[in-house]
Amino acid sequence: ALSGGTQCTGGPAIVMSDPVEAGKKLAAYAAVDEYIRPDHKVIGIGSGSTVVYVVERILQKPELGHLVYIPTSFQSKLLIIDGGLTLGSIEQYPDIDVTIDGADEVDPQLNAIKGGGACQFQEKLVAEAAKKFVIVADYRKKSTKLGVQWTKGVPIEVVPMAYKVVMSSLQSKLSLKPASVDLRMAVKKAGPVVTDNGNFVIDAHFGAIENPAQLLKEIKGLTGVYEVGLFCGMAEIAYFGESDGSVSTL
Ligand code: 5RP
Repeated sequence: ALSGGTQCTGGPAIVMSDPVEAGKKLAAYAAVDEYIRPDHKVIGIGSGSTVVYVVERILQKPELGHLVYIPTSFQSKLLIIDGGLTLGSIEQYPDIDVTIDGADEVDPQLNAIKGGGACQFQEKLVAEAAKKFVIVADYRKKSTKLGVQWTKGVPIEVVPMAYKVVMSSLQSKLSLKPASVDLRMAVKKAGPVVTDNGNFVIDAHFGAIENPAQLLKEIKGLTGVYEVGLFCGMAEIAYFGESDGSVSTL
């Protein structure tokens, strides 16, 4: 590591005074370097602040310029367009080689909570369509158990008219009872957050989640639920940029 900053092994020096930001960049650069190849055809681009570094690294590699990139949100669509990369849709390209995305929390079995940016539906679709799903995150996202590190709850995207019914079902019908459920509000409580698909998001606070796959199944079974920000058994690998400038993987 360089003094006062961090360095990405095998890549260019990454010097940043903020260790979290450096961690995001380290993970993103390592994942692009190791997972995206010029002989690929279609790449899924996740959403969030870590993914900005994924696109930044892709743009540093002219040999990746001819690939087609599939977005997972309005934000990632703009990243692709503004970078001058070729934008594709999941309808045109339902077979994706690799999808790289961030996460809010990742457990040792590579289960993840996603949806901090309310993009969980498109993110899950584009991850599911990929042969390989790769997570990139800074060191704060590594967890022994989902629900321990990420305290903002499990994001649940719901059809707007169903939100009250789903909030009540979450409290009465699950084997794991949430301590609280909140409709996600926009800044200054200007109204509910509306997803790219025109839906609302409920954040359900469960605390430590012993069996994420079971919880996912139960929540998805509730009428009105569109998608759940629990990604179970989907990722092949997760890269974490550590505070000491190294990159670890799970
Ligand atoms: C958006 C997501 C993001 O990938 C997740 O919130 C991580 O974001 P960041 O890289 O900004 O920490 O799931 O819905």
